Order: sequence, then C-alpha cells, then structure tokens
Amino acid sequence: MIILAVESSCDETAVAVVRDGRTVLSDAIASQADMHATYGGVVPEIASRKHVEAIAALADRALREAGIGKQDIDAVAVTYAPGLIGAVLVGVNFAKSVAYALKKPLIGVHHVRGHIAANYITHPDLEPPFVCLCVSGGNTMIVDVKSYTEMEILGATRDDAAGECFDKAARVLGIGYPGGAPMDKLAQGGDDTRYDLPRAHVAGAELDMSFSGLKTAVVNLVHNANQKGEALDLPGLAASFGAAVSDTLVPRTMAAARKCGYGKIAIAGGVAANSRLRADLERACAKSGDKLYLPALSLCGDNGAMIGCQGYYEYLAGKRDRMDLNAYATRDI
Ligand code: KG4
Repeated sequence: MIILAVESSCDETAVAVVRDGRTVLSDAIASQADMHATYGGVVPEIASRKHVEAIAALADRALREAGIGKQDIDAVAVTYAPGLIGAVLVGVNFAKSVAYALKKPLIGVHHVRGHIAANYITHPDLEPPFVCLCVSGGNTMIVDVKSYTEMEILGATRDDAAGECFDKAARVLGIGYPGGAPMDKLAQGGDDTRYDLPRAHVAGAELDMSFSGLKTAVVNLVHNANQKGEALDLPGLAASFGAAVSDTLVPRTMAAARKCGYGKIAIAGGVAANSRLRADLERACAKSGDKLYLPALSLCGDNGAMIGCQGYYEYLAGKRDRMDLNAYATRDI
C-alpha cells in the first residue's frame, strides 16, 4: 500500500511516499528555519504562507523521487493536530484536495503519534507495546504506546516543552535558532557541573515535568552576567543546561517504563537528537535491562515519512477521515 504523507505543523513543509508503513520511498522536506531565525522563533503567519508556496512542488518532488505517479497513490495521510493552526490547515487542505481528486482515502494523523512512528522506520523489529519519551519544540510527554493506535499519556510538561526551553536558552545566549542543535554542539567538552540549574518536580505527579523555571534561570544568569560585565563559560552553561534537561527526562522515562513493565523504551521528536539525552538513556537502559530504541537522527525532526508510517497503521485500524477533517492547534494523542 502506497501512502502520500503530508506534514506542515510548524516550520517544515514535508511530503513523503511510504510503502506498507515502513518503507520510505521518498521524504521531501523544505525547512523555513532560516527565515524564522531572523525573528528568533517561528512567526506563524509567515510559516503558513511559506507552506502554501512550497507544498505542491514538494509533492511533485516526493512522487518523482519515489519513482511513482499520482495514479499509484492508495491513500493520503496528513498531520491534522497539534501545531500552529494556520500551518496545519495548509497541509490538511492540500491533502484533502489530493484525496478528493484521486478518490482515495484520507487519514488524519496526530503529529506526536507520527514522531513515535519514526521509530518503526528506524527499527524494523519494533512493535508495541513500549514506552516512548516524546520531546520536541511543542510537546514533551511520556506515552504508553499500548498498540499502534492506542496510547495513553503517563506524564507531560506542565508548561514549556523541552525543545522550546532549548530554543529560548540559545536565543538569550545568541547562538542561533533553532537552538537545540547548537546548544548540543556547544555542550561538547563543557563542564556539566559548571552552573547549578534547577530540576523541577511536580508535587503529587511524579511523571509530570516543568521546564519554565530552567528557562528563567538561564535568562536571569545571562542578564546578571551582562549587567556585571562578567563573561559566561558558554560550553559549561550549555553542558549544565543539557544535564538539567536530561536529569528531568530520563528518571521519569525509566519510572514510566518500570510502571508499564514492557522492557522496551523509545524516544521521539526533535530533542531526541540530543546527544546527552541519548547517552544518558543508553546508560540507564544498560543498567535496567530495558531495550532502548533511538530514532535515526534524520527522522527526529518533523518529516513526512513518520506521518506516512503512522498513517498506514491508522488505516489498518480502520481510520478514515472525510472532507470535513479539520485542523487543530491542540488535540489529545
Ligand atoms: O520535532 P521538531 O522538529 O518540531 C516539533 O514538532 O516541535 O522539534 C524541534 C525542536 C526544536 O526545539 C529544536 O531546538 C530541538 O527540537 N532540537 C534539539 C536538537 N535538535 C533539535 N534539541 C536538543 N538537542 C538537539 N540536538
């Protein structure tokens, strides 16, 4: 079964062609990150307009690179939530048009489910159930993946997503947007005990998280240093920051895994590319005996292939959407 998959929830326009869920025939992505870098963050109106400009040509490219024609498409999958509403709407309307014109089924896919599915592409042996830590620019949650289509949130951030926190810290340090990858790079060789940064606990909700205090701590540190004219140890700060994020995410993921008892842990989303997080999880899983599944770096960020993969499993479970499929800024997984 060949699925044309569309993703436009934030600042990447992506169209992929995926065969039988796990074979990626093409994965075309147009990133707008350079444009939003001027503003230090995604400008929703610009994102929507750029999706409109890019999406049709990107679909042509995806078909060409897959070596197929539009008559070969069996179904169309699209991210319908969560995301920037104007941005998601572009993908949803494009996918609807294609499905309508070709008279093929339309499958709305939850973006975070897509991120989780990136692991199926990387690991042909991975099947639910497992626990997945989903960490991106817009979402941070620990999910009990009971089956390909039944999921339960075990814990989540009460405020900022971890990726958002990386981006804001990088912005105040003036090291670029999006900030996660440059922070990760800067942290290499830095002393992770150099700055004492907070690791928040949510009383009474052991698997929930909070990152706003960490973000504020970095902002205050930088402002104080600027006021006093003191130089910061930037690699040390980036390493201390990465350690604080990882120290928040890893123990909760391990606790969730213990609670579920599946013996399998995966991670997903843009922040899943973080080298400190990956190394800490590898160490923790080596100790606990859980099998760890890390997505390929190329599939951590937003892409169409993951939507095509999850779309396939949603289709097998009987999900079909109609022409009244809407886009949503927030939606339960
Ligand atoms: O999954 P994604 O592409 O978009 C969303 O669905 O939100 O995630 C983007 C986020 C950004 O916040 C970016 O800074 C972060 O992932 N990110 C990283 C790394 N690479 C990307 N964060 C930490 N370390 C990285 N290596």
